Amino acid sequence: MAIMDCVGRAGVPDAGGDDLLLLRKAMRTALIVGNWKMHKLIAEAVAFTADVLPRLSGTRAEIALAPAFTALGPLVQAVGGAGVAIYAQNMHEAPFGPFTGEVSAPMLVELGVAGVILGHSERRRLFGETDRALRQKVPAALRAGLQPILCVGQSDRSGGGHELRQQLQEDLAGVDEEQLADVVIAYEPLWAIGTGTAATCAQAQEASAFVRALVAERSPAAAERIRILYGGCVTPAASGELLAQPDVDGALVADASLDPVSFAAIVAAA
Ligand code: PGA
Repeated sequence: MAIMDCVGRAGVPDAGGDDLLLLRKAMRTALIVGNWKMHKLIAEAVAFTADVLPRLSGTRAEIALAPAFTALGPLVQAVGGAGVAIYAQNMHEAPFGPFTGEVSAPMLVELGVAGVILGHSERRRLFGETDRALRQKVPAALRAGLQPILCVGQSDRSGGGHELRQQLQEDLAGVDEEQLADVVIAYEPLWAIGTGTAATCAQAQEASAFVRALVAERSPAAAERIRILYGGCVTPAASGELLAQPDVDGALVADASLDPVSFAAIVAAA
């Protein structure tokens, strides 16, 4: 079953044609985020920024790098004011407390971190991240002034609309309607992440439109403004067509973000 079969036509915003979709897209600033996962020591991270910064001039896109916790502070120092925001890859929902090994939103803010990736499929699959926790994490990030990127994605290549619907409903339940558009959603099909097989541009567009339709069920106004990123095997070669899709507002990139040349090429395509 195709993803769109899972949403009633009533759930799809009245697009009013491709021109209107592209006009609405133009109102949203593209966002390209490099998710470094558990890669790069501090010295490597700092060397990357020295290499990549001169390659990023002239872009209209917002750019963020999400290194491991250890490199957050040094990278904030290294890129301060240079147009690249530093994001964390996870955080705890409480501001402080007896949670050994965890890091909170105020701790990230204190370092100068500007955003946080939440609910990445590796955290869900390997570390027991739950929708119940995400329901608290997303509003906690907003309260602290961090830009949350909520990752959702289905495991079934030929469908999985109900999985996306459930994740979005549960993970955004604690966010007020007025703040809905301040969340960034990253659509990352599990079968594409780190596999060498990206979704086609048509699949990425279809799923992003579906995600936008689900947001529209709560707030049509927020659905027009909310940014939806695609993630899963984004490469420089494919990024031009991908980022031109009317409902794709940017990319969450892991493998290709580890190399300054390929990351800069993806940014240039936005
Ligand atoms: P990839 O990973 O770009 O290496 O496929 C994307 C992600 O895990 O966010």
